[in-house]
Amino acid sequence: MKSDVKNIKLASKGKIRIEWAERQMPVLRSIKKRFSKTKPLKGVNIASCLHVTTETANLMITLKAGGANAVLCASNPLSTQDDVAASLVKDFGIPVFAICGEDNKTYYKHINAALSNKPDITMDDGADLVSTIHTSKTGKLPIGGTEETTTGVIRLKSMAKNKVLKYPIISVNDADTKHLFDNRYGTGQSTVDGIVRATNVLLAGKTIVVCGYGWCGRGFAMRARGMGAIVVVVEVDPVKGIEAVMDGFQVMTIAKAARIGDIFCTLTGDIHVIRPEHFKVMKDSAIVCNSGHFNVEIDIKGLKKMTKKKRIIRDFIEEYTLKSGKRINILADGRLINLAAAEGHPPSVMDMSFANQSLSAEYLARNASKMENKVYCVPEEIDSSIAKMKLRMMGMEIDKLTPEQEKYLNSWQMGT
Ligand code: ADE
Repeated sequence: MKSDVKNIKLASKGKIRIEWAERQMPVLRSIKKRFSKTKPLKGVNIASCLHVTTETANLMITLKAGGANAVLCASNPLSTQDDVAASLVKDFGIPVFAICGEDNKTYYKHINAALSNKPDITMDDGADLVSTIHTSKTGKLPIGGTEETTTGVIRLKSMAKNKVLKYPIISVNDADTKHLFDNRYGTGQSTVDGIVRATNVLLAGKTIVVCGYGWCGRGFAMRARGMGAIVVVVEVDPVKGIEAVMDGFQVMTIAKAARIGDIFCTLTGDIHVIRPEHFKVMKDSAIVCNSGHFNVEIDIKGLKKMTKKKRIIRDFIEEYTLKSGKRINILADGRLINLAAAEGHPPSVMDMSFANQSLSAEYLARNASKMENKVYCVPEEIDSSIAKMKLRMMGMEIDKLTPEQEKYLNSWQMGT
């Protein structure tokens, strides 16, 4: 299968970086070792639509080791690491369709190229493969698929609810060993990393407005506080609002927060969280970015309408001068800052996410024929086996219940 990458000569740089990430992915490494021997994915065609990073490269290599015919396309036009794409093609013989900065048309051309692999399994981050399959005339349907992210899972659950989902999906995002770590610690660190790399601003003493207090939002809020920022949380869910207050953050509406923030970051999964009426009251030179999956959380079209002048300040910073003279800085055109300006989540957290992906693919290869066209959780045994492996690989030990403790927990008759 022919690939489409930026420059195959970048492969040697990509290969070393892939190997560096692999050192910090011990769980995936041990799965790869088992897959190489037992080949549970022998002859299975897998189309993956994921961020093309060093961590994803290690997942693709693991799938191939398991016998899969795996191909990869990008799940975001700005997150592709071109050296990694080149190395996957040249050094590992894995077809890749992804070029950093590709336009929308090329992005979809690449999705269709990955689908021409006639996948038995789709592996999505944002549900673009599934939605393309469901909106175009395709021949044979996949037997199953996996989904990596909250936004994709929301889309897929709505398809299942409306009874239009044509094949079973495993929501990797719902595994404890995924969202509790990747969404929280991964997004927390990589969003700080993306903002700092894009702007080189000091976070200490800045007021940072975090829109959304799901696992990603709380991870970022926690890490921003750790850098010395004054953190304000914006929420629509009252329970999450209370949690944010009791976690020690100020909670207010975006209308109020807009007036006091120095840096704004959306992590909600929803549309137009920051709108023209908010830009209007922001401080001069406010920085606005998004770390949610799609570039819809900031109303950039609305901002353009109130802008008289625009210029690029440096990579990833576009300054909009409003008719009032005020300047608003949008980072990475509203695309997810942690993958556009930084490298996404570090390998040791993607280790668990991609262990879930590879073991879910193995599960689908064995069990998809018995599954319904629904969104499933990762089986509990897989989730807990990953937790056990990760803990062991980190050199940590936990206790076992004594028989007496076990009995106590299982018996309503035993008193105090
Ligand atoms: N999503 C967030 N961080 C990522 C990474 N490093 N690789 C692949 N997908 C990601």
